[in-house]
Parts: sequence; C-alpha cells; structure tokens
Amino acid sequence: MKSLIILLFLILNSLFFSGYTKGQDKKRDFSVEVDSVLRLMTLEEKVGQMIQYSNNRLNTGPAINTNNVTEEVRTGRVGSVFNVLSVEHTRQYQDLAMQSRLKIPLLFGLDVVHGMKTTFPIPLAEAASFDLALMEKAAEISAAETSAYGIHWSFAPMVDISRDARWGRVMEGAGEDPWYGSQVAKARVKGFQGDSYEDRKTIMACAKHFAAYGAVVAGKDYSEADISENTLHNIYLPPFKAAVDAGVATLMNGFNEINGIPATAHKGLQRELLKQEWGFDGFVVSDWGSVSEIATHGMAKDNKEAAKLAVLAGCDMDMESMSYERNLVDLVNEGQLDIRFINDAVKRILTKKFELGLFDDPYGYTYRSNEIDDENIVSSYRTVARDIAVKSIVLLKNQQEVLPINPNVQKIALVGPLNKSRKDMLGSWVAVGTEDGVISVYEGLRTALPDVEITYIEGYDLETNELKTLPETDHFDLVIVAVGERAQESGEAKSKVDINVHKNQQQLVKTLKEESTSPVVTLLMGGRPLVFSDMEPLSDAILMTWWLGTEAGNAIADVLTGKHNPSGKLPMTFPKYIGQCPIYYGHKNTGRPWQPDNRYVTGYMDETVLPAYPFGFGLSYTDFEIGKPKTDRETYEMGDTVQVTVDVKNTGTRLGTETVQLYLRDMVSSVTRPVLELCGIQQVALSCGEEKRITFTLTTNDLGFYAAENKFVVEPGQFKLFAGNSSDNLESSSFELID
Ligand code: NOJ
Repeated sequence: MKSLIILLFLILNSLFFSGYTKGQDKKRDFSVEVDSVLRLMTLEEKVGQMIQYSNNRLNTGPAINTNNVTEEVRTGRVGSVFNVLSVEHTRQYQDLAMQSRLKIPLLFGLDVVHGMKTTFPIPLAEAASFDLALMEKAAEISAAETSAYGIHWSFAPMVDISRDARWGRVMEGAGEDPWYGSQVAKARVKGFQGDSYEDRKTIMACAKHFAAYGAVVAGKDYSEADISENTLHNIYLPPFKAAVDAGVATLMNGFNEINGIPATAHKGLQRELLKQEWGFDGFVVSDWGSVSEIATHGMAKDNKEAAKLAVLAGCDMDMESMSYERNLVDLVNEGQLDIRFINDAVKRILTKKFELGLFDDPYGYTYRSNEIDDENIVSSYRTVARDIAVKSIVLLKNQQEVLPINPNVQKIALVGPLNKSRKDMLGSWVAVGTEDGVISVYEGLRTALPDVEITYIEGYDLETNELKTLPETDHFDLVIVAVGERAQESGEAKSKVDINVHKNQQQLVKTLKEESTSPVVTLLMGGRPLVFSDMEPLSDAILMTWWLGTEAGNAIADVLTGKHNPSGKLPMTFPKYIGQCPIYYGHKNTGRPWQPDNRYVTGYMDETVLPAYPFGFGLSYTDFEIGKPKTDRETYEMGDTVQVTVDVKNTGTRLGTETVQLYLRDMVSSVTRPVLELCGIQQVALSCGEEKRITFTLTTNDLGFYAAENKFVVEPGQFKLFAGNSSDNLESSSFELID
C-alpha cells in the first residue's frame, strides 16, 4: 500500500509540472485528477485545504489569526491566502506551498469589489447605469487587473438584495430588486470568470453573502435576518440562483442568522438547496470568522461544535476563524464527523485549483505584472471607467433647465471640500487603487471648462462638518456645491441610524441659495440612499453622483457640461424620512392599500408613505414619451411566449438614452404578490423627435413565483403589465394566462 502511494505521488508530481494537466478549463471534468490527489492526502493535509488565512499585513476584519501562516503553508496546512497584494508576495507564498509534501498550490483571494487598480464606481452606482454589458466589462477589466497581481479569486459580486438604506453595505450590491439583482449578478460573474481561465486574465468570482444578509433587522450590520420563507425564496435567493446558473465558482456565506440559524451553519441552504437542488459544483467559503461565530450566535457550545456544524452544513473553507484548523482532525478521529464530508469539501476546492490551471503551473498568474503600469492598458481601462461613471450618475432634479451648464456661464463657485477630495471619490472597499490616480471634481471641471473662471470655496470642514465663513457668492453665474458622505461612511460595519445629509451641509446649501441669486446645483455623494428634505427645495438641480472611482471628476464634468446627457436610474428607493426604512417599490397591496387623505389605510399618521425618489427614477436633459405596453395577444397558454411592444419617443431637444422599464403584476395568486415586479429593461438612444418601437419577450416562466412549500409555480389568471421610465410613472395593459 505504502509503495502504491509513493508511486502515485511520483506520477502526480511529474504530471503537475509536465504541462500534462492543461488546466484553465472550467468545463473539463477533473474528477480523476482530483481523486488521485485526494488519495495521497493525509487527514491533516485535507483539512489544510479547507483553511484560509488573511495575509497579516492587511486585515479586512477583526484580527483573529495569530498562527505562523508561513510555516503552515510550508507544511501543507493552508488552502488559500487572501489580502496578498503583489505578484512578488504571491510568489513567495506559492514558493512555500511548493515546499510542502504534496505541493498543492495556494489560491489567492481578494475583495475586488469595484476594481483592482482602476477603481470603478461603487457597485450600487454601477447598478444605476442599468447597463449590463458595461457592468460585465467593468468586472472583466477588474479580473484582468487582479490576475496581473497574481490573484485568482475575487470576493465579489455581492448579490445581497438591499432595501434598507441604514445598512452600510447597500453600496456593494445592485439594490432592491430581485429580478434586476439577478441580471447584474449574471453580468458580473460572466465578467470576472469569462468563458474559460485559459488566458489567465479571468478569475473566480464569489457570490456573497449566502443568504439574506441584506435583510438584517433594522439595517444593523451583522444582525439577524428574520424573514418568511416566501420572502427568502422570492426576494433574497434569486440573485444567488442566477449566479449559480451563470457558473459562479464560489459562494461566501454570511455573518447573519436566518430565522434562527446562522447562515454559516445553514444546512438547508448550503448543502440541500445550493449543492443538491441547484447542483452547485463549486465551493463555499465562510465569511471572516463566521464559523466560530456560530458559537457566539448561541447555536454551538464551542468552536469545535461550530466547526462540525459548519462542515455538515456545507461550508467548505474556513476564513480566518481557525475553528477548522483546531478541530476537524480531532472530530474525524473521534468519529464525530464522517470523513466523506471532508473529502467532499476538499474535492470541490481542488477542482477549482485544477480548473484555474494551478496544478499545471502554480505561478501561472504571475507573468503579466508588466501590465499593471502599462500606460496604454491603464488608459484603455480608464476610458471604460469614465464611461460607466458617467452612466451611473442620476439626475434627481433640474429646475428651469439649469443643467447642462449654459455656455454663457463665465464664473462658477465650486463649494465644498468633497469637490477637491480624491480619496472620497474611491469609496469603500478599494483594492489597490490610490487617490493619486483619481480625478477630483475640481480637476475634471477645470479641464472641461478651460475658459470659465472656477473659484473653489471650502464651505465646511471635511473632517468635522463645521461650517466655514462664506465669501460673497452673488457675482457667480452658477454655484455648484458638493455634499454627502465621505468614503468611510458606507460599507461593512457602517450602518447608521441617521442617513440624513449632515445638517451643516444642508445648511450650507440653504445659505448659498438664500445669499445669492445664482442657481445652485447640488452634487450628492455617498454609498447609499440619503435623506435631504431640508436642502432639496433649495437646490435648483441635484445630481446623485455616488462614489464614482478613478474617473469621478471627469464623469461629473461630462454630465454637468452636457457632454453626456444623464441616463442613470435609481436601483434603490430614496426614502423621504428615515422612519420609512425599509422602503421598496415592490411592496404588497395589503388589505388596506394606501390612499391619500384616507385614515384607515396602510401608512403613517405623521408623514407620507411615498418616497423622495422612487426605484427606477432618473431624469434626462431631454424628455421621453413612453406608450402603453401592447401584448401580441390577449390570452396565452402555459409555455407560450408573451411579446410586448412599447413605443418610445424623444420629445425633447437633445439626444438621450432612456431606460424603458417593464413591470408585472399578478392580480390573483395562491400567495400574494407585489404590486409591481420589474421583469424587463431596455435602453434606447434617441435623437430629438425620434421614435422607436421596442420589444420585450417574456416566457410564462417569467410570470412564476415561489408559492407554498417554496415550490415554483406559474398560476393562470389575470396579469397586468406596466411600462415607463420610473416605477412611479407607468402606463398599463392586461392579459390573461389560461391553463
Ligand atoms: C468580511 C466581509 O463580510 C466579506 O464580504 C469580505 O469578503 C471578507 N470580510 C474578506 O475581506
């Protein structure tokens, strides 16, 4: 037996370095190779593959790991290291792995949430572009840059549906809508992973956080999610299913519990639904320390029991909690954990290493570091970053067409320190991008308007929000003021009870308006929907500019000057009052639907239920007229295709792009359905006076939903369709589905 093992080891060793395995093929079946490696492994080595450590030089969570990571890698007791930020450093780690007995290569991971070196707009902002192809392109570029740093795996996309702006992590996702969230999830997974890993410019994606992390109670980060099974299946799970269908390589579970079970220990979700029912063949990594947190949640008495529960539930890799490292060998040896669970996890992890071609060449991702500073490549990436940044901007208000800036404008006051800040334009979750590469609003505007006198006025202190004395602003033709959140104000562990724009900043806008006759344009920055009722009436125009990344200043200037006609739409409802959170367009009708001036209906006694700006809202410098949706028939049978045509006309005076939105309502169903569900989007560019007819195609499956016992059903009956350019500006028609 022993000699057989040695023989196999020798064969495999020669295979790894002879180029035989020809990895880089996601579709190839590597089970023979994986099994032969597995047979050589000791229990300790198997458990090692299930362990992931952060490089101690960069922590993206509370420091836990006190081990000697270098030594553990050298002795084959680590499967993956993350937060390693250079080719040299990944090579050093891989060198250590190559000193281990079986020379199993390491996987390197990183949170590449919106770009590696070229920083794209934050994911929520990108989602506002409603441009799926461009989001895919941004992920593709992120992958190309990340892989040039020797990294194989991005902990993105975050596909958590988020409906509560108090939750700091809304910035990382695609907003509130499950259908749209699913399209964005697919686009981002495709962008990161491409069709193959062949040219080593694509990397593994990771759909996170499985599941329902976005539903944390009251928007409190790390809190519990307490939602119905129906909501879980219809709202929170669809983007994960879409990511799995798109071939996502990995999933990350979450910190939250779902209806009493911590996500990391959730067998029903991970082992049964994800792996068995959906057929997911990749692996699941825990979130930072979330394995040991199963004990803190109160579901395990100690880390040992937590480790056991997590493995049984289908969590294949332990990020940073050390619970697997300290307990799995004992659990197996004591007969408490069947080795087949370990084998299953290890096989999944090894398969990905084969697919990436790492057994073929463990250093395969380390040969393109020259691209990192190649000016031609970098500038081509920046062109895309500017394009998507421009398209992410949402025009919320434009009174008397104060925007685009009139060519007669000679003098502009640019007020507020965010206009000069480069760092804040990067937003939260920046990989290796630095402020040096960022174009500030001030710089962008100066370049765009070389003949205009632009005077910068600080207005308030960036750190303390204390107001500064304002000079006289009456002689300016236009005042542009930037307010909102700084980069550290949204993201992980950044939940807030107060999402109002800071009162001093709102006061600044007020003072500017009151003390000058010039129109005031407000640039609103931040990583989430914000509340700004005080300054709203005092701004002649408002642009939601989020955090737009490397090209922020150029993109904002493009929109301000009219070089680009704004086309962004809100992917999340903007509440009018914080007390409305969570707020979303796809609510239920209830038995007492809201009506104005009616007391016994769903709503609030002190203020409206209506948002400040609804989902899908976004103005343009031109106007569009969108007709009623017309179906090709009035009645359909199961399995039919529903063709819907909508006429769109540019009735304004400029070329522009409109995002036509198609919504659905199932009028009577076995389980109540939302009053509106987005089921299609199409972007159409029209010159003045131009008209186009666009077609949406729905299958009867698109009319289905998860009903009792989480069964997917398509039920016959009446449906309403709605078309328009915002969830609150729609024309409707009806059709019937018969059995
Ligand atoms: C914790 C976050 O929740 C997760 O999204 C991230 O990928 C890990 N930390 C690693 O940084």
